[in-house]
Amino acid sequence: MRPVSYPLIAPSLLAADFTRLGEEIEAVAMAGADWIHLDIMDGHFVPNISFGPAVVKALRPRTTLPFDVHLMIAPVDPYLEAFAKAGADQILIHIEAGPHTHRSLQLIRDLGAKPGIVLCPATPPEAIAEVMDLVDVILVMTVNPGFGGQKFLHSQLPKIARLRDMITRSGRAIHLAVDGGIDAATAPLATRAGADVLIAGSAVYGRPDYAAAMAALRPDGATDPQAEYLPLPR
Ligand code: DX5
Ligand code: ZN
Repeated sequence: MRPVSYPLIAPSLLAADFTRLGEEIEAVAMAGADWIHLDIMDGHFVPNISFGPAVVKALRPRTTLPFDVHLMIAPVDPYLEAFAKAGADQILIHIEAGPHTHRSLQLIRDLGAKPGIVLCPATPPEAIAEVMDLVDVILVMTVNPGFGGQKFLHSQLPKIARLRDMITRSGRAIHLAVDGGIDAATAPLATRAGADVLIAGSAVYGRPDYAAAMAALRPDGATDPQAEYLPLPR
């Protein structure tokens, strides 16, 4: 097993070739990905539809990398068990998706997965203050959720920094991920603000060489996936 280096890179399958999803997962795993990010959209919480638990289950045997399942669905509770059983290691729900986020996060933990919370661009960091003790991942949307290939919202950078402070004060080991418009130009802005996980769709799957694409997201464009890139801020 290779040593963990930061930032972690989580390619988003949304930008992969949908006719070859299994191979696309294997390809980024070979190229040094840390997590596989799977975007679940319901055409209700977000204006797009992607795929459901059956696809997650079918893809599960293709890699041992953690499946980071980003649920853009409402209501979320009726589907948590299906995604946990399909093999999700981490289940991320939106703070905006329902009135009982606290219960949903407890349920995810009870199902044996790591709970994560996601904030849309319009949501302030303080909105998640009362659930920080329940989560292992905080995800800042740097675009409005629903589509890949959108432009990075620079307005979210101060929010990333504030959430990093909140994590430090919590004393808990919580990952701070960013999702949307991450490329070689925006990745350093996000990591400097305090993110330690970069989720990238187009900037990985939209390029011919996945290893080079992920290296370009790491500080200094380092090409050695074993290198220590950025220590996880405490
Ligand atoms: C958007 C999704 C993202 C998306 C990112 O709702 O949550 O994960 O795939 O795509 P890029 O990296 O192309 O902005
Ligand atoms: Zn996502």
